Amino acid sequence: MNIGEKVYRSIWQDESDQTTINVIDQRRLPFSYEVLQLRSVNDVCTAISDMAVRGAPLIGAAAAWGIWFSFLEHRAENNIKEAILFDADRLKATRPTAVNLSWAVDRMTEVCEKNPESEALRTAAARICDEEAWRSKKIGEYGLELLRDISYRKGGGTVNILTHCNAGWLACVDYGTALAPVYLAHDKGIRVHVWVDETRPRNQGARLTAWELSNHGVPFTLVADNAGGHLMQNGLVDIVIVGCDRATTSGDVANKIGTYLKALAAHDNGIPFYSAFPVSTFDMTIDSPEQIMIEERDGDEIKKIDGIPENVLNIPVETLHATSLHADIQSFYICQPGISVSNYGFDVTPARLVTGIITDRGICRADKDSILKLLS
Ligand code: MRU
Repeated sequence: MNIGEKVYRSIWQDESDQTTINVIDQRRLPFSYEVLQLRSVNDVCTAISDMAVRGAPLIGAAAAWGIWFSFLEHRAENNIKEAILFDADRLKATRPTAVNLSWAVDRMTEVCEKNPESEALRTAAARICDEEAWRSKKIGEYGLELLRDISYRKGGGTVNILTHCNAGWLACVDYGTALAPVYLAHDKGIRVHVWVDETRPRNQGARLTAWELSNHGVPFTLVADNAGGHLMQNGLVDIVIVGCDRATTSGDVANKIGTYLKALAAHDNGIPFYSAFPVSTFDMTIDSPEQIMIEERDGDEIKKIDGIPENVLNIPVETLHATSLHADIQSFYICQPGISVSNYGFDVTPARLVTGIITDRGICRADKDSILKLLS
C-alpha cells in the first residue's frame, strides 16, 4: 500500500543483506517511520511480543522467517530438529490468541522436516508472505462487493464503515483484512468514509489505522472507543468490518478487546457486522467460543499512554505525516501507578452476532455448515 508515492509492504527481505528481514516498527508509528531489522529467532520473538510487529497475519509471516533464522542458527548442530522445535514453541508462545502464528510455524517446520535446507525454508517463508498479500487482496475483492451494494443502495452516497483496532496492511503483509475492501473501493472511486476508534489500551486505531488511511488518502474520522453505539443509533454507520485473530469452525470470532461490544451495538441497530480474515485464521480444532485462549498482557498498557508532547510540533499539524516527524515518544501514567488492573487483549464475538465472514475464498455465513462448505 502507499506511503506518499511509494508502495510498501509491512515485512520484506533486505535487498543488500538477504539474512536480514525488515519490518516497519509499529511501536513508533505514527510519530516516526522506522525500519526494524530482524536477524535472529530471538529478534523475531521480541518483535512479536513487544508488538513491533502485530496483527494476526503479519505475526504469522514474521514467525515464518523466525523458523528460517532458527535453521541458520542451528544447522551445524547434531540436534537441529529438537532446536528448531524448541524455537517453534517459543515463537508460538509470544502471542497465544492469533492462530496464524502457529499455522505459519507448523507449515515451516513441516518444510524443514521434508527438506532441511536453507533455500527451501527461505522460499517457504517468502511464499507465506506472498500468499498473505494475495489472500488479503482476495478478501478485498470479495468485500468490495458488499461496499458496492451499499453504495448502489445509497445512490452513490458515501458508505460509512466502522472498524476496530488495526486490520489494515500494517497488520497483514499488504492490503489488510477489514480494510482491504475499503482500499479497493476507494481506489475504484466508490465513496467511502471510515469511523476509526482509538482502540485502547494500545491505540492501534488512533495510531495505526488513522496513519494507514491518511497515507492512502481514504477519508476517515477518529472517534473515542465508546462512540460506536452512538454512531450506529444515529444512522451514521452502514456496515461494521473488523479483523479476527482466531475463528472457530462455528463462526465465533476472537478479535481485539471491544469488538464484542461493537457487534452487540450493530445487532441492536440492525447494522451488518462482518469479520474479515484469511482462511488460515480458522482454528479447525475448536468449535465453541470458550475454547479460544485470550491473551492477557502487561497491566502497564492500561495504566499508561504513549504520545508526544504538543511543543515538539514545530510544523503545522495539517502537514504532519509520519515520515516527517522524528519525535521521541513519551509514556505517561493516566492513573495511580499502584492500582490493580487487568488487561485482556481480545474478546470473542459469538457467531449469532456475525452477519458474515469475508475470506479469501469468498463470503460465508457464520455457521458450521457454511464454513465447512467454504473450506471444502
Ligand atoms: O493486538 P494486535 O494489535 O495484534 O491485535 C490486532 C487485531 O485485533 C486485528 O484486528 C487482528 O489481528 C486481525 S488483523 C488483520
